[in-house]
Amino acid sequence: MSDHFKVKIQSIDDYDNRPKAENPVKIQDLTFRDGHQSLFAARGRTEDMIPVAEMMDEIGFWGMEVWGGATFDTMHRFLNEDPWQRLRTLKRYIKKTPFSMLLRGQNIVGCRNYADDVARAFVEKAAENGVDIFRTFDALNDFRNFETVVSAINDCGKHFQGCICYSLTEPRMGGDVYNLDYYLKKAKDLEKMQANSICIKDMAGLMAPYDAFEIIKALKETTDIPIHLHSHFTSGMAPMTHLKAVEAGVDIIDTCMSSYAYRASHPAVEPMVMSLVGTNRDTGFDIKKLAEINVVLEKEVLPKYKHLLDDSKVSIIDINVLLHQTPSGMHSRLFDQLREMNALDRIDEVFAELPRVRRDLGQIPLVTPTSRIVGTQTVNNVLFDNDDEKYKMITAQVKDLCYGLYGKTAVPISSKLQKKALKGYERGTKPITCRPGEVIEPELEKSKNELKGLSTDLEDIILYTLYPVSGKKFLMYKYGKETPPDSLKARTLEDVKKADEILAKAKAGKLVEKFSGQAPEKGEHARTFNVFIDDEYYEVSVDEPGGQPIITYAPPPAVPAVPYQQAPAALPSAPAAAAPAPRPEPSASTPPTPKPSSPVSKPAASDTEGTPLTAPMPGMIVSYSKEVGDSVEKGDTVVVLEAMKMENALPASVSGTIKAINYKAGDSVSKNDVLCIIG
Ligand code: CO
Repeated sequence: MSDHFKVKIQSIDDYDNRPKAENPVKIQDLTFRDGHQSLFAARGRTEDMIPVAEMMDEIGFWGMEVWGGATFDTMHRFLNEDPWQRLRTLKRYIKKTPFSMLLRGQNIVGCRNYADDVARAFVEKAAENGVDIFRTFDALNDFRNFETVVSAINDCGKHFQGCICYSLTEPRMGGDVYNLDYYLKKAKDLEKMQANSICIKDMAGLMAPYDAFEIIKALKETTDIPIHLHSHFTSGMAPMTHLKAVEAGVDIIDTCMSSYAYRASHPAVEPMVMSLVGTNRDTGFDIKKLAEINVVLEKEVLPKYKHLLDDSKVSIIDINVLLHQTPSGMHSRLFDQLREMNALDRIDEVFAELPRVRRDLGQIPLVTPTSRIVGTQTVNNVLFDNDDEKYKMITAQVKDLCYGLYGKTAVPISSKLQKKALKGYERGTKPITCRPGEVIEPELEKSKNELKGLSTDLEDIILYTLYPVSGKKFLMYKYGKETPPDSLKARTLEDVKKADEILAKAKAGKLVEKFSGQAPEKGEHARTFNVFIDDEYYEVSVDEPGGQPIITYAPPPAVPAVPYQQAPAALPSAPAAAAPAPRPEPSASTPPTPKPSSPVSKPAASDTEGTPLTAPMPGMIVSYSKEVGDSVEKGDTVVVLEAMKMENALPASVSGTIKAINYKAGDSVSKNDVLCIIG
């Protein structure tokens, strides 16, 4: 027997009465946050956590992650739930286990850096409502973005867990940037900030088992602060990685209840509990109690969510993560963006361009929001660059990054790109080197004024500041000024039953029920239609009772000169097929890109002479940076167009004067619409 083993377990009695381990691995459960965020697009509702909340509290978890990340966004946007209320509700059922939340540093729970007053108020309110452990990370691993929130966490007397985002530029740990040294230095930085624990946050499931052993062992020799490992299953390595980390002495690991585990989520708790039974790292958990929780989840909760599972493929492992060192959410987004631009065939070019863009942007880790920033810019480059010009269309977020608004990158940004990106940039052409929070004006007072007459509650004001559009909408529902649509209502077990029955009928080919009575005689005006559903063909005769139908003819609406080429939409395979699962990445703070509306009255521009600036893709006008009569230089930003959830700054292709502007902020435009004329 290996010296890891303390006791031999040969009977149920041995198991039930096993002595406590010398150094038990502590476990944090993620079911109520990262679990449903990773598998069910963060759509978990509070009412579905309550049935197991008290049982979960009995297990002995080190902490339960119940809030933060994308959940704050989805709760108010898609579930019509007040995010703050969830904490208060769960606290009534979970009294012993500390609550943990995922905090994106100065990004809070959004996708950009917010002002210090927002960051501080957010932490104070979260602590007041029940968050005990603040798991804090920054997408650039720039810990200056921790300063404000950490001081607030300390003032509230709560646990500050400092994260280091785990990233790679090579297939395995090493290379010039993300090598062992990098992580040890970052850990030392967190030690200086007096972190209560250090988490290695492997959000993409990149960490290989032997790299985990090396990094955890070195960290344990470097610092006395407890080490916590957060690794996603995505690539399939995480259970092995966990075990090697345990052997190397990791203090805490993250798992989910098995029904919320695997795929893009985390390893399950139950196999780890059994694997360590009888060793000096035995969790001491009772596997029977865990099983009881799963029975409730499987019966009462999961049927309501299974339609959200991405079942587009059978394998639960995403091999792309191993090939490209990028998170899986990023892959689905890249595919979506290309599909939207009718350019799916260029995915290989995108994967080839991606490491180049990432290097130009300072080899930043790929995690929300940087994964989106790198991904969208890569797609733009592939679609719009030519041999004469690289980075032809730079997104507003890349400009912000080049300005230093997200913080310091792992290696310097390409100076050529930086110069190009900051040409005419609104905040200035010289990048900042200070902490980004220092240049952001306070925001709460402004929000307070904007919410006058609706709410004066600080929690509402913070929510609105983080999410001005969807937040306002939610508050209108909350205060009864608007009625929430049915689509925000919960799916009940009854709904699930009905849908399952229809599906069963469809599978049995009985969806179209035969009329059981006497069929009427077929009239002389009956018309025959050919109906195609996927590869099946039906011939249907239609006869309107009471005589000849009057068929009116409506002329089609005027079509824009260059119609928007939309990707062919797949027909639903069965009438009961659920809507496609929303992508697991959180929504951007901006509203979704509207589909271009076809009957946009297109302003006539033909009588103005000059060079037209056309929309390279369908989207919505965010703003014009110039007015008619302004002079522009080639390369200056003229229009900001929101498309694919990113803001794209469109540059002037020639120098001259703005002769005509054809749209205004908020207008939807189609591809190739003339946005303005430069003469
Ligand atoms: Co995670």
